Amino acid sequence: MQVNELEKKYNFNIVRWFSVATVIYLVFGTFVGVYIAAELAWPFLNFDNPYLSFGRLRPVHTNAVIFAFGGCVLMASAFYSVQRTCGVKLWSDKLAWFTFWGWNLIIVLAVITLPMGFTQGKEYAELEWPIDILIAIVWLSFTFNFIMTIANRKSTHIYVSNWFFLSMMVMITYLHVVNSLAIPVELFKSYSIFSSVQDAMIQWWWGHNAVGFYLTAGFLGIMYYFVPKQAERPIYSYRLSVLHFWCLTFGYVWLGAHHLQYTALPDWTGSLGAAISIAMIVPSWGGAVNGMMTLSGAWDKLRTDYVLRFLIMSLAFYAMSTFEGPVMALKVVNALSHYTDWTIGHVHSGALGWVGMVGAGAIYHLVTRLWNTEMYSTRLVNTHFWLATIGIAIYITAMWISGIMQGLMWRDYDEFGTLTYTFAESVAAMHPYYVMRFVGGFIYFLGGVIMLYNVVMTLRQAGAERNVSAEPVRA
Ligand code: HEM
Ligand code: HEM
Repeated sequence: MQVNELEKKYNFNIVRWFSVATVIYLVFGTFVGVYIAAELAWPFLNFDNPYLSFGRLRPVHTNAVIFAFGGCVLMASAFYSVQRTCGVKLWSDKLAWFTFWGWNLIIVLAVITLPMGFTQGKEYAELEWPIDILIAIVWLSFTFNFIMTIANRKSTHIYVSNWFFLSMMVMITYLHVVNSLAIPVELFKSYSIFSSVQDAMIQWWWGHNAVGFYLTAGFLGIMYYFVPKQAERPIYSYRLSVLHFWCLTFGYVWLGAHHLQYTALPDWTGSLGAAISIAMIVPSWGGAVNGMMTLSGAWDKLRTDYVLRFLIMSLAFYAMSTFEGPVMALKVVNALSHYTDWTIGHVHSGALGWVGMVGAGAIYHLVTRLWNTEMYSTRLVNTHFWLATIGIAIYITAMWISGIMQGLMWRDYDEFGTLTYTFAESVAAMHPYYVMRFVGGFIYFLGGVIMLYNVVMTLRQAGAERNVSAEPVRA
């Protein structure tokens, strides 16, 4: 089909805006990440200014990378792939624009209120109640539009990527609403309706499922659409993808308690969380293998197709972090890893390696399709790939060493039963690894800046091509 016809048939504009926003937020979110990493290495960088303090900027980082970068790439790819796989336009263009502007308003409000110190103190759910209500409304508008588009579909069945997106949308609505239930006392102050151990349990039921359904199921939706598209081959096993979907959806919801081992929570809840975590290796690896094997017989594509490299490398990190996570859930391992930088290493192998790379791969794919052109520079795509890979390797190696060292130093005692090291000594021992993490993070951030430059130049190039020829270049 010619480009002009595609343009009439689908709403690509909304996907374009979300795609560009994704790249901008990647740069912003990782910049704040690099800054707080520098603060941990050189604490004077907070300049005794409360707005720049680590405690206030940390949630700006997590919200920017998860909800601004992650949210925009999820919305761009969900809105694109649902139209293409269902063969129909989005159910409502107006609702889609409401989602775009509403989501961006939430991001702006987060960037203003978090440094001012307004927070509910719940990780990944810091934003105060009026913003929580806005999130619920905008998220529902996204979900409703997606469901109605599927309901209008021309295809007979619902492609598996849509199942993963749907699972994310339904679960995140439910988790966000329940975890955010609070009693407002002022415009920007509220108290959770849950207390003590129930509050902790609800928080980590949300926290783990934000990982499971947002950072995993949603990004698997991206993987299941973009890997076959970029490789120009069907998914290796459709049956495996369906199995992956059902096991993941029913398994993930039981894991939250592995964040609360050795706490006031009943012991059996942690054991259940650990047992199901171990079981989750099976569907997770099934999914990773399914994505990678899509390339079987065409591995040579990896030599020239840099976008495919991002997608396949992301699957390697997905496999790695879904092996590491279950191991960390075991009580005996968690006794060492909890509270240490090992968790931060695990988070970033998943976040930088899986979420960041599959997201970047999807955006590169989208940019060439939506603007009907080639990337301005494929060499720069390759440079971004290597900077990201090297940056992640440095980052997570630093955190593994520092995390295991921290855990061992904290539990070491002498023949009199006295702790060998003071806490301050363990903090001093972390310094070289915090510098190393800063370097790795900075390299990763540089890759993002190069991506932004390459995307901007590609859009300019596409504009120039349109001026030269009114005819479409490529469908
Ligand atoms: C340049 C890249 C990045 C750097 C330098 C960086 C740095 C950091 C730092 C210093 C922390 C605080 C660690 C601590 O409290 O000890 C952190 C936390 C976190 N970051 Fe990043 N980050 C980067 C990219 C990302 C990306 C792309 C994501 C997600 C897609 C992400 C997700 C998170 C999460 C979820 C946490 C909280 C971890 C926890 O509480 O256990 N980061 N990051
Ligand atoms: C089967 C898959 C996985 C399991 C069983 C798992 C398990 C775990 C465990 C046991 C912890 C440490 C809890 C603690 O000691 O506090 C953890 C932390 C974390 N994991 Fe995973 N993980 C998995 C996959 C992933 C993936 C793919 C990502 C990223 C996209 C991810 C992101 C995180 C984050 C953000 C945290 C830190 C939460 C916090 O303390 O703030 N996990 N995970």
